[in-house]
Amino acid sequence: MSRMSLPADRPLRDATRLIHEAEARSGYGEMSEALYLTSGYAYDTMEAAEARFDGRDPGYIYSRFSNPTVTTFEKRMIALEGAEAARATASGMAAVTASMLCQLKTGDHVVSAKALFGSCRYVVEDLLPRFGMPSTLVDGADLDQWRAAVTPRTKVFFLESPTNPTLEVYDIEAIAKIAHEAGALLVVDNVFATPILQKPLKLGADVVVYSATKHIDGQGRMLGGIVLGSEKFVMDHLHTFMRQTGPSMSPYNAWVLAKGLETLSLRVERMQESAGRVADFLAGHPKVKKLTYCGRPDHPQADLVKRQMAGGGTLATFAVDGGKAEAFRFGNALRVVKISNNLGDAKSILTHPATTTHQRLSPQDRAAVGITDATLRLSVGLEHADDLLEDVETALKAV
Ligand SMILES: Cc1ncc(COP(=O)(O)O)c(C=O)c1O
Repeated sequence: MSRMSLPADRPLRDATRLIHEAEARSGYGEMSEALYLTSGYAYDTMEAAEARFDGRDPGYIYSRFSNPTVTTFEKRMIALEGAEAARATASGMAAVTASMLCQLKTGDHVVSAKALFGSCRYVVEDLLPRFGMPSTLVDGADLDQWRAAVTPRTKVFFLESPTNPTLEVYDIEAIAKIAHEAGALLVVDNVFATPILQKPLKLGADVVVYSATKHIDGQGRMLGGIVLGSEKFVMDHLHTFMRQTGPSMSPYNAWVLAKGLETLSLRVERMQESAGRVADFLAGHPKVKKLTYCGRPDHPQADLVKRQMAGGGTLATFAVDGGKAEAFRFGNALRVVKISNNLGDAKSILTHPATTTHQRLSPQDRAAVGITDATLRLSVGLEHADDLLEDVETALKAV
């Protein structure tokens, strides 16, 4: 065994694997991973090209199919998630769409929690039905609704947990069981929990998807996504779909994201610590009507959070006393926290879901998932927590 390979005789923790997993040095012995910015690969001979294409030689063919830098990112994520295989995608939405479309055909049925990020909801509510794949939207916290929604054609269950932006938490283990009894696969969008704080595959989910744009990059630079699951799922469904339709990740993005993984656990831990402090402050403030943070004992599913997450996460959602005008006044008075719609960034971000990420939903649909005009989502970043607390406290004076 080379000194360069990781020890095989002892399990390594996430923080270590995220730094060293899938190191593949070129002949130069570089410390930082090489960036293979190439679309294609040269073959020694015509016979060698033929062997690549017919599968006798497993090397690289074309970067829409696979690329060594993308492989490094995928392998680190596979190790972190405890998956068997993965395919990286151009964005989180490419991952969500591919995870479902790759395995469905006309007539198949999808059951999904209705509390979803707006674009995810578009995929299950509008896009799939348009191609003859109907969906039923349920209250994700109500296990009876998941059971009742099953039809003989149900093939996929889909959920986010915690949900965007209301931070509801769903029982992944119980929902996976219902999916499996129905002969369906459970796909979990694990963006809000991060791969550090929640491992859906270990809870029984079959497929996990990420927007790598969020905590995995963590510095607001680029889009990316990934779908992870069993070797069988990837080879039976995802592999060919990705290869032939092309929502692939660029090697440059994979390089940046693989470097992002090296600091992921550190960043998530620090952001979570600050998020807890900001949430506690907001919860006790007279101008805050409702505060939801997964790490607080007053979270409606606090016991479930303890069972399936390793912490409360990096986001808090709250309602200011009033409506849209008061929410806007608060946002406009912030100076350190930025107004944006991304999350998981080193920079703290405030989002008004009703007018941005969830604007597409009707007011009734927003109300049904608990989003009001006063709802604000705060993604806590890496600034000093005291500066964030002062910023939020000052802005609340404007409400
Ligand atoms: C829960 C969730 N899933 C998927 C996505 C889509 O990710 P991307 O913007 O990388 O396409 C987002 C983006 O906000 C999200 O919050």
